[in-house]
Amino acid sequence: MSTVVRLETRGSVAVVCVDKPPVNALGRAVRDGLQQAFEQVRDDDGIRSAVLHCAGRTFVAGADIAEFDSGAFDGQLFHQTLDMIEGLDKPVVAAIHGTALGGGLELALACHSRVAVPDAKVGLPEVTLGLLPGAAGTQRLPRIAGASLGLDMIITGKPISAKRAQEAGIIDQVIKTDLLEGAIAVAENLAAQDAPVRRISEMQVDPATVPASLFDDARATLQRRPTGNPAPERIIQCVEAAVKLPFAEGVPVEARLFRECLNSRESAALRHRFFAEREAAKVPGLPKDVQLRDIRRVGVVGAGTMGGGIAMNFANAGLPVTLVEASQEALDRGLAIVRDNYDTTAAKGRLTESQVEERMALLQGSLDDADLGDCDLVIEAVFENMDIKRQVLARLGKACKPGAIIASNTSTLDVDALAQASGRPADVLGMHFFSPANVMRLLEVVRGAETAPEVLATVMRLARGIGKVPVVSGVCYGFIGNRMLEPYLRETEFLLMEGATPAQVDGAIQSLGLAMGPCRMIDLAGVDVAAKVVQENRKAGGLPDDPAYRAVVQKLMAMGRHGQKTKAGYYRYENRKPVDDPEVMQLCADLAKEHGISRRDDISDQEIIERCLYPLINEGARILEEGISYRPGDIDTVWINGYGFPDWLGGPMFWADTVGVQNVADRLAHYAEHRGDAHAYWDRSALLERMVSQGLRFADWPFSDR
Ligand SMILES: NC(=O)c1ccc[n+]([C@@H]2O[C@H](COP(=O)([O-])OP(=O)(O)OC[C@H]3O[C@@H](n4cnc5c(N)ncnc54)[C@H](O)[C@@H]3O)[C@@H](O)[C@H]2O)c1
Repeated sequence: MSTVVRLETRGSVAVVCVDKPPVNALGRAVRDGLQQAFEQVRDDDGIRSAVLHCAGRTFVAGADIAEFDSGAFDGQLFHQTLDMIEGLDKPVVAAIHGTALGGGLELALACHSRVAVPDAKVGLPEVTLGLLPGAAGTQRLPRIAGASLGLDMIITGKPISAKRAQEAGIIDQVIKTDLLEGAIAVAENLAAQDAPVRRISEMQVDPATVPASLFDDARATLQRRPTGNPAPERIIQCVEAAVKLPFAEGVPVEARLFRECLNSRESAALRHRFFAEREAAKVPGLPKDVQLRDIRRVGVVGAGTMGGGIAMNFANAGLPVTLVEASQEALDRGLAIVRDNYDTTAAKGRLTESQVEERMALLQGSLDDADLGDCDLVIEAVFENMDIKRQVLARLGKACKPGAIIASNTSTLDVDALAQASGRPADVLGMHFFSPANVMRLLEVVRGAETAPEVLATVMRLARGIGKVPVVSGVCYGFIGNRMLEPYLRETEFLLMEGATPAQVDGAIQSLGLAMGPCRMIDLAGVDVAAKVVQENRKAGGLPDDPAYRAVVQKLMAMGRHGQKTKAGYYRYENRKPVDDPEVMQLCADLAKEHGISRRDDISDQEIIERCLYPLINEGARILEEGISYRPGDIDTVWINGYGFPDWLGGPMFWADTVGVQNVADRLAHYAEHRGDAHAYWDRSALLERMVSQGLRFADWPFSDR
């Protein structure tokens, strides 16, 4: 008998219980257990009906995704189990609590009836992994929910509530009392009726309910927003098959398209992304019994662009926030922007007026550090200036109660130096939010040399609690993301000086799938902001002795071309549309002359991609080599969630494996030879050298005898 699927009888009702913590994933053992249990239901004459339910916090929440990569997944066998369950003449009722997702919902759809608790959710999120539901979900869901809702649910992957599922017919009954007892009653009732069971596979989608342009519209939407995800187009084909073909003919269509998705590089990348994000939340080497600190009240110092957004994150999660500013004027302005943000969300119908008021009521403004005394975590987001930040940290070291955590939102400054300034470095770390801080999911959590393990662990958990994707970085210039951005922007500017236009550089990078090329990105973030970062880095001795280094951004800033906000930066903006500006081209030509850089007219997109991204990968390898980042997947998580790197390429390190580490190394050597390497721009990191000599890929991490 299976250890993870139990069968008990309650009178003539078989109660089949899946018990595989944490989320009852449909791994091999569960699939085998279900097969055995329902064979028993079939063969035992004393059983007249069955209930399928799950122990723990949720119904089956999906497939065991690791099996897709290990090859242990046997879709054919699972199909047979589902067909066997549906084929029974004895009614089977799925009792859903928590989430029935992916294979879990497919399993429930093979049952003859579904009941659920009010807060249950059901969905088919396979698309997020570049897959489609492969156990007849694309064939059964449209038959029961209609083609429009079925297609929408599968193509967006978004789960729906029990209430919505009941309206759509996916769930027959919402049970507000005891779920199992209610489900047993339904099963007994169905058995007593002695009517034929209802099999979704035998139903047909009523053509009159299918909007004539449903599939054309879906394809047009995909074309408007192209993505490398292989699943959406194939999902449309599957749902079309569900509408047009009998079940027995639709299933092989789904099986073929599922295999195509599964074998694609893009789906492998999306699966990598999924695991990398989960892994990134884990901090290696933390003591198991680490005692987390309680965070009930948060303080934020500085209510500017970042401070306001940071405060919103906590208010959204129901935590009270004390917001401290240097002047009443700045405080009023900061709070007004926060309110404005909430009002905009409310205007879109995503918050009610009373929710806006509740959240605003959680924000308390102050000009006095003493008001931070009862905060358990205080995050400073004042100007990016070492002297000012040192002073603020020193103040916080005194104003915060013992045991409070002190964090800095610095983008580039030395977190260890700030920690020392506080006088209590064990309580200090970096929390590097991305702009807009209330929207962007990435949070780089910077562990200082003396950060206490429980401080790091507390912030990692808190980050997930407010919906962020946290990634740990060690202390270095720019941490993971901005450090890797540096060589990318360096080459962007050299390419401009050599004769490429901003539109050409951005076009090449965007053709690869990145959301935004480097020139548009800086125009959006602010040329002045970017130029100041270079100046600070130069002051701190972090730049090579190269007067041409990032000369373009300096010049643009001096000309007052600060980007989108001044309608001119790398581009000129006409009705917010970026267009190449002859003035910028001339400026780049002048800078090239000044710095002895030869102009060319043969710069290809491939060269742009290689020169911008291969040094970025090389820097990522250095980050691993120095132990700044724990794993290549952490770096990928940073780039996907913070810098618009396409998830279906898996992040820069996964992509490096795709193009081949050897190839990356060869091309770096090529540019060293052709462009000269006076400033070590093309030097390959020791890790990359080692990978080449040993034939290693980033996917092989951790490398032995590291
Ligand atoms: N803007 C971004 O895209 C971004 C992204 C990530 C991190 N950061 C970092 O966040 C921090 C803040 O950046 P920002 O863009 O929000 O700057 P900002 O200029 O918009 O806001 C800074 C705020 O801090 C206040 N302030 C200054 N000194 C203070 C003090 N002693 N006490 C209290 N308040 C004080 C100012 O009045 C101002 O409102 C910087 O360290 C920056 O590097 C910025």
